[in-house]
Amino acid sequence: MDKFLIRGGQPLRGRIEISGAKNSALPCLAAALLTPETVILHNVPYVKDLITQRRLLEDLGATVLTPELRTHKITANHVEVFEAPYELVKTMRASVLALGPLLARFGQAKVSLPGGCAIGTRPIDLHLKAFEQLGATVSLESGDVIARAPASGRLIGNEFEFEKVTVTGTENVMMAASLAKGKTVIRNAAMEPEIEDLAALLNKMGARIKGAGTPVIEIDGVEQLGGAEHTIIPDRIETGTFAVAAAITGGELEIKNCNPAHLTAVIEKLREAGVIVDELNQSTLHVRGTGDLLARDVTTEPHPKFPTDMQAQYMVLMTQAQGTCTVTETIFENRFMHVGELIRMGADIHISGNHAVVTGPRQLTGAKVIASDLRASASLVLAGLCANGETLIDRVYHIDRGYEAIVRKLRSVGAMIDRIKENLPETVSAES
Ligand code: EPU
Repeated sequence: MDKFLIRGGQPLRGRIEISGAKNSALPCLAAALLTPETVILHNVPYVKDLITQRRLLEDLGATVLTPELRTHKITANHVEVFEAPYELVKTMRASVLALGPLLARFGQAKVSLPGGCAIGTRPIDLHLKAFEQLGATVSLESGDVIARAPASGRLIGNEFEFEKVTVTGTENVMMAASLAKGKTVIRNAAMEPEIEDLAALLNKMGARIKGAGTPVIEIDGVEQLGGAEHTIIPDRIETGTFAVAAAITGGELEIKNCNPAHLTAVIEKLREAGVIVDELNQSTLHVRGTGDLLARDVTTEPHPKFPTDMQAQYMVLMTQAQGTCTVTETIFENRFMHVGELIRMGADIHISGNHAVVTGPRQLTGAKVIASDLRASASLVLAGLCANGETLIDRVYHIDRGYEAIVRKLRSVGAMIDRIKENLPETVSAES
């Protein structure tokens, strides 16, 4: 297992480029299963989760070509298997996104039930209930969920409301309903930019979706979908993470190829906390840390409110802010795994239920820490960047799931961070 070695205390300065959004590319790859024609996706981030998603499509029988590193040409004209196996679902929950397209196009799908993960139990009951609303029969056999379309082979459009906002649930149903007979109305739909991006791709493929990005999505089912070409939106969480990196090191970063409109709540919160954030244009942010950070409470909520995927990074920022604040996590029940590690680095954080009370500023000191999930790992990198001395982060495969070339990008703006390859203990290699 690779590790990161960080020598903290360097203000980050310069330009950094944002990659495509992992959480948009994942459903967009799955959407290619809806058609026998070729779907071409650009700006797919080169991260582990996308490699896993690609493997899933290939295991199902699709052909995936990558004429360029970040371009995927997917042709699912010979799908022979309708199953997302346990081996893949257990490593990446987003493999459940294959369920909707398989069920809609082939009338059947089997997916292993995802078990617990580092950030909570994360069931898929809402996805399954929604498929039932579209006429599917869902059963559980030996840990696998088996979904079947009605006898006609086609799902039937319906109107229903999600009990709770679910991002991949909304995506799964949006894909399934695109090929259903008749009209589907999804109420209490997730409004994340990734939902809009997926709808844009589906509409290019011939779907008839209106309202994506609002709580009510209307889908007029069509008989078949065709090929399309689409560019994935920039990753708003990577953008937010680098914005915090600039602020926390007292540095100055120009963040290119991003979409500031997708992270309004994060930008507002950073400004409240004393970070200077300027939108230079529609795809560039300029972020400057002044050294005078103020403690400001935050609560994670579905988009357009503050994202849970930025909670850990924001908490690290708060360890450097003057005063006491409360970070409240409302989306996942177990998303404070980073707190124990931050305390070991000198942070003053107390957890009470889903609240973390952070008092700052505290000078963090480098330590050996262990990454527990993707965003927790990002928070440890940020902590390492502003800590005194050396931080060694173990299990960085978590960060490789969702941050493209983070070592190379951070080094290019002055961070002293190295990847230490496990099998070559003496060798410190920069990321490719
Ligand atoms: N939930 C249920 N039943 C369901 C589905 C969800 O109870 O059937 C609950 C979840 O347990 C959670 C809440 O509803 O408490 C919201 O979960 P959601 O379904 O929205 O999460 P997700 O779709 O599994 C996506 C992202 C996550 C991100 C969340 C919340 C992808 C591939 N993943 O997960 O991203 O945290 O939405 O915004 O889009 C990450 O990138 O690090 C990450 C974890």
